[in-house]
This record gives sequence, structure tokens and C-alpha cells, in this order.
Amino acid sequence: MGFKSAVIGSALAALAGLHTASAAQPKAAEPVPAPMRDLVWGKLNFLHTTDTHGWHAGHLQEGQYSGDWGDYVSFAQHMRKRADDLGVDLLLVDTGDRVEGNGLYDASDPKGKYYYDIYREQDVDIICTGNHELYHASTADAEHRFTVPNFKDRYIASNLDYIVPETGERVPMAQRYRKFRTKNQKVNVVAFGFLFDFTGNDKNTIVQPVRQTIQEPWFQKAIREETDVFIVIGHVGVQMQEFKDIFKAIRAENPVTPILFFGGHVHIRDATAYDDRSFAIASGRYFETIGWMSVDGVVKKVEAPTAESPLSFHRRYIDNNLLGLYHHTGLNSKTFPTEHGRNVSAMITKARKELELDYTFGCAPKDYWMTRAPYPSEDSIYTLLQQEVIPDIAVKPSRKDVPRLVIANTGAIRFDIFKGAFTRDTTYIVSPFLSVLSFIPDVPYPIAKKVIKMLNGAGKIMQAETHLDTRFMGIPEQWALNESIIYKNPGPVIHDGVQKPLDGLSEKPRLTEGYTTRDDIGDDGDDSIHANINFYLVPNCIQTELSFYSGGEPDTVDLVFLDFIQPFVLMALKLLGGRYGNEHVQSYVEGTFTDLWAEWIKKNWSAKC
Ligand SMILES: *[C@@H]1O[C@H](CO)[C@@H](O)[C@H](O)[C@H]1NC(C)=O
Ligand SMILES: *[C@@H]1O[C@H](CO)[C@@H](O)[C@H](O)[C@H]1NC(C)=O
Ligand SMILES: *[C@@H]1O[C@H](CO)[C@@H](O)[C@H](O)[C@H]1NC(C)=O
Repeated sequence: MGFKSAVIGSALAALAGLHTASAAQPKAAEPVPAPMRDLVWGKLNFLHTTDTHGWHAGHLQEGQYSGDWGDYVSFAQHMRKRADDLGVDLLLVDTGDRVEGNGLYDASDPKGKYYYDIYREQDVDIICTGNHELYHASTADAEHRFTVPNFKDRYIASNLDYIVPETGERVPMAQRYRKFRTKNQKVNVVAFGFLFDFTGNDKNTIVQPVRQTIQEPWFQKAIREETDVFIVIGHVGVQMQEFKDIFKAIRAENPVTPILFFGGHVHIRDATAYDDRSFAIASGRYFETIGWMSVDGVVKKVEAPTAESPLSFHRRYIDNNLLGLYHHTGLNSKTFPTEHGRNVSAMITKARKELELDYTFGCAPKDYWMTRAPYPSEDSIYTLLQQEVIPDIAVKPSRKDVPRLVIANTGAIRFDIFKGAFTRDTTYIVSPFLSVLSFIPDVPYPIAKKVIKMLNGAGKIMQAETHLDTRFMGIPEQWALNESIIYKNPGPVIHDGVQKPLDGLSEKPRLTEGYTTRDDIGDDGDDSIHANINFYLVPNCIQTELSFYSGGEPDTVDLVFLDFIQPFVLMALKLLGGRYGNEHVQSYVEGTFTDLWAEWIKKNWSAKC
């Protein structure tokens, strides 16, 4: 499965001959061509989405990811037909975090007013829950009221319980596992749906740690079911211990049965194999990526009683780029959209219109990056926040002259800002959370000044002393850093090799910047060939000092922080010898961080684009 076998030249030729395509959302950027690697079909084939976070309208400002959920519906219909024609099977998987992070979900009241109906239009075969479905009781309620029944027996909750609000009864969020046969080859499948050992959920759900779940009688029975293949989907990074534990438990009972894993949570493209009869893929974030996995060889036990015949696995990370979707289906802008797909695109357009997501607050003067620029630097979104936005918004009129330290977690920012229109949609994309600014008045400065260090560098101490996982303050993209080889070399990625002419091409193509994934399988996973993007580490938290006057250090300061990190701040204070509890925390200013920022944009970036 080397680079050489990838079809590059012919694909570029195919794309060059296309008519101008238009993405389904009216204002979306034109899709951009790229040299392509083809999909390799097997007997079992999968399309996988994860961590879509409300981006079901696609990326309106990035042509390489501007397909919408309706386009994905069309794509899946064509791919299912191909599977039927070939006599193989295609299954769709989604591994959670479908909500929070885009105006299409966040801007409505109640949240998700349009999203649940749009999402359900896709025929997903195996679906589970992510941590973002559980932060707020109302989100978990809606998940249980809408998405669970929308997908009925296809929704799996192996280690998640729900508390019924009317009765207080504790019930499984959905069935614990699913046993079924595939449509065309009648392959027997036992499927599970997990969530990592998440502890930040609201009161109406209970997440059972995975190492306990795998001891449960029902699980022990399920892994002894007669089956041709196990499919484990989960809101879990593929390098995380939870998946490894599940793998070990299943493999102990099933020495040769193929075990397929679909993961998420860490927002990266990744793949690995736990042994030569298992395979795992994670398919990125924000509906930029549609993951593809295929398994070939003898998958049905009856065909191979010894079951030792070799299996082969393939994976591709498909850019959600219309031109690529046309390429993989052999269709064009006229033949690609199906009636169902068009209907779903129309639902999205209508929802965006009713939510006024294109309403423009102002005009971003340039691009600001989360990890594509170093922090601090003038291109860093965190420097913008620290030096320009926070000084203006973290002001409590009655205490505006009191020296203060304002701490924001980098995870509060979810996406880059692109030069150009900053819309209502952008506010939710960049900062979707309901965090507000809280503070503790008059904290002795010698203690307060050490909090930021504790939250960042000394996270290990906090983890050892408590059960708080400091990574929750940072950005999910960095979770993978210590667990995956993807960013084995964090820090600037050197642009290397991409300028060389590619085999079979007489001219070097102009490559768009995008994913250049290296996973445990190799560096040929991306379906589109891109120029590298730099990746820089960011700290868990950033701090702004305000109203510090010359003439020595203040005795006390107001310690201001986003309420999301309150447990971490209190723990840091405790470890530093301060005696503070929730009762010392007060509201600092009215309004969510998102609203305050939108106001700031209105005032400071008021120019027309
Ligand atoms: C698409 O929408 C039209 C108009 O509402 C409806 O008549 C038709 O049944 C829909 N088709 C599909 C496949 O959803
Ligand atoms: C990764 O591990 C190193 C060494 O243990 C540590 O210094 C660093 O903070 C870790 N990074 C993250 C993002 O956890
Ligand atoms: C943003 O606007 C406010 C209010 O008009 C103003 O006081 C502040 O100086 C501006 N900030 C920047 C960084 O331009």
C-alpha cells in the first residue's frame, strides 16, 4: 500500500477537465482541485465521520472542505450503489461530538433546533456519543430525545447511562451492543459504541470507565458471540488506552476474528493496527474529513474454518471537497447531487437563513491562527485575545483599577479566524461555549501569579494530586501529541518534498495547504495531496495582566478566569497554599465570552470587507 500504488496523475487529469462546480451552500467557496489518491475497495467498506461539531453546512470559507451534509448524503447513496453493484458491503459510522462548534447548532434557541432534523437525514449504520453531547444536561436530554430514537437500533452506548428526568431512573443511553448481518454478504457483525473515561459530564449521565465495562457480564457475553467481525466504534483516540484495553479483552477470547476500530475525540487523522488482524482509524474533525476504511480477504468464518488467511486493510482520509467526491464516484456537478442530497442541502440553507448566520459583525483584517502560527506572535489568535480582546472585555466598572490577572484556556478557542467577513456563524465557530468570566477578589499576588504556571507547565502535579486532567483546558488537537506518532516532531513542520514534481506529472501542481498525514500505516492516507501546514504547540492557558501600575508588585490582585476552568484554578490555588472554594468565586462581567467577543468585533473591526 505504498505511495507508488496511489493513482495520482490520472486523477489530476480527471479533475482538470471538470466544469466549475458549486458547493451546495450558496455562499460557500468554490471547491479546489488537488492531485488525488483513489479509494481501495474491499469486502467490507466504511465511511466515517467524527467530531463534526455542527459543521454540517461545510466550510463556507474553505473550498477544500465546502461540501455540506446534503453532499455527504448524495455521496453515500452513490457509494452504497457501488457496493451493491460489486456485491460488497458499505457501512456508515459516526463517533460523536456532533454538536457545539458552529452556528448551525449553537445559534438557535433551543440549541440544535435545526441540527437534529438535518443530521438524521444521513443513513448512519453505527453511531455513538461524544463528550460534547454530555457537558450540559439539556444537550444530553436532546440527544436522548432526538438522535437516539432517530437511529434506534443503530445507536450504541456501551459505557453510558442516562438518568430519566421524570423518574430519576438510570437506564442505558441506548443498547449496549448491536448484532447484525450486512446487507449484501450477510457478514455477521458484533458492534460496540464507547466513550473514553470522561468525567466532565453533567448530572444526568453516567460514564462507566472502560476498564470496568469490559468486566461486565453483558460485555463478556457479547465478546463470546458467534461472529465474523467485531466493530468497535468510540469517541476515543485510536492511540488511547481505552481502545487498547477493549482490543485486549476481545482478542483474548477471539484469537483470529478481525476487529475494526473507529475513533475520534482528538480531532486528528490517524490510523493504527493493534495486531495484524485489527485496524483502527480516526477521521479528523469539523466535517473536513470523511474517513474511509476497507477490509479485504476472507472475512466470513465459514469460508475459512482455519481463519488464518491473510486480511488486508486500507484507509483514506477523504477531504470533504466536492471535486474529490465527484472523483471518487466518477460523477460531476450535474450527475452527483441526488434528490435526497439536494433536499438536505436546502434544509441547511433554510436553517442558516433563519438563523441569520451570514449577518456580519465586522471584517477580520487578516488571518489569525490557533496552531499554524507560533504563540506569541502577531498571527496567533491567542496573542490577539491576550493583547487586544481581553484588555477591552475583562473590565468590571466597579473594579476597573484593581490589578488583575485574566486567565483564558486555549481550548475556549476552537477555530482559526480568516481574513474577511466575521459573521454570526464565525462567532460560534471560533468560540462556541457558554463560558463566562468569573473572579476571586483580592488574592495575594505571590500565590495568584503562580497559578498560570501550575495550569500549564506543572499540569502533571495537578494530575498526580487530583483527578483533574489538565488537557481539558487545552485544544483537543494536542491530546494526540504524547500518544500518537502524528506529531512525533511537534513544533514547526518543515516544508519538505512537496515542491518536487510528482510522479507522472509534467508540471508541478500548485498544492493547497492542508493535511499531510503521517500515521502508523504510512504517509499515503490523505486522498488529496497538500502542501504542509506548520503546527505549533500552545499552552493550556494564556494570561493577561491588567491595571498593573509601576512601583512594585501589588499585594493582591483580582484573579479573573473563564468559568470552564474554575475547578482547575481552585485546585491550583489549593496546591499553592491558598484556601479558596466555589463560595469565593463571583461573576466578573455579564454575558458569555462569545457575546463579549462579538461586541468587541463590532466595535474594533467595523470596516466593511
Ligand atoms: C425532496 O423534497 C421534495 C419536496 O419537499 C419531496 O417531495 C421529495 O419527496 C423529497 N425527496 C427525498 C428523496 O427526500
Ligand atoms: C507531553 O509529554 C512531555 C514529557 O512528559 C510533557 O513535557 C508535555 O507537557 C506533554 N504534552 C502534553 C500536551 O501533554
Ligand atoms: C476596541 O474598541 C474599544 C471601544 O471602541 C476601544 O476602547 C479599544 O481601544 C479598541 N481596541 C483596539 C485594540 O482597537
